[in-house]
Amino acid sequence: MQKDPPQTVFIYDAPDNHVEMRSDISAELRRSLFEVSREDWPSHPRFRGEAEFWTQIHAGLLNASAALPAWTRQLQEAADLDAMQALAPRIAGLGGQLVHHAHGHHHIEDHHFFPAFLQLFPQLAHPLEMLDGDHKVLAEVLDQLQAALRAFPVAVAGPDRARREAWLAGAERLLPAAERLDALFIRHIGDEEEICIPAMLRL
Ligand SMILES: [Fe+2]
Ligand SMILES: [Fe+2]
Repeated sequence: MQKDPPQTVFIYDAPDNHVEMRSDISAELRRSLFEVSREDWPSHPRFRGEAEFWTQIHAGLLNASAALPAWTRQLQEAADLDAMQALAPRIAGLGGQLVHHAHGHHHIEDHHFFPAFLQLFPQLAHPLEMLDGDHKVLAEVLDQLQAALRAFPVAVAGPDRARREAWLAGAERLLPAAERLDALFIRHIGDEEEICIPAMLRL
């Protein structure tokens, strides 16, 4: 049943709503969601197709955002320079793809998915406003990650010690940005699916 759009103001920066402060979708926002629990999605007759495809895109983003800090830690702990040289281009390649993929995905959601959902389901205005706020924070984190990737050396020439130090310095800058993105993606993507998949299953 269609519910009325919310009349109150939504404050993204409140601890209950901000992606780096909330630990769940707030009870208030949950009241406006359609209820189909996550474990029932795969067996739902409308899950195949767009909803399933969208969760697969998310799974790909989450795999990449988990691998990037893991590989960066491997480089920090690498036993020798050959291992570092093998890992460095993989890290740079994965990071570049992840930033590109994430920007493209957010663009589609901001310009196509979310406006369409808002029109079809006005009751989701505040949850969608929260996801939009998340994307703005994610854009900052992706910029931070991209800057760290630009400074990260794919190949280093020179004496062994200088090469090791150059890679370790690159990894030290990259790791916090990669870890921050991964934590934000876990929160944002999980909540985004809880908000949007039950609505998609009604279409
Ligand atoms: Fe999103
Ligand atoms: Fe998404």
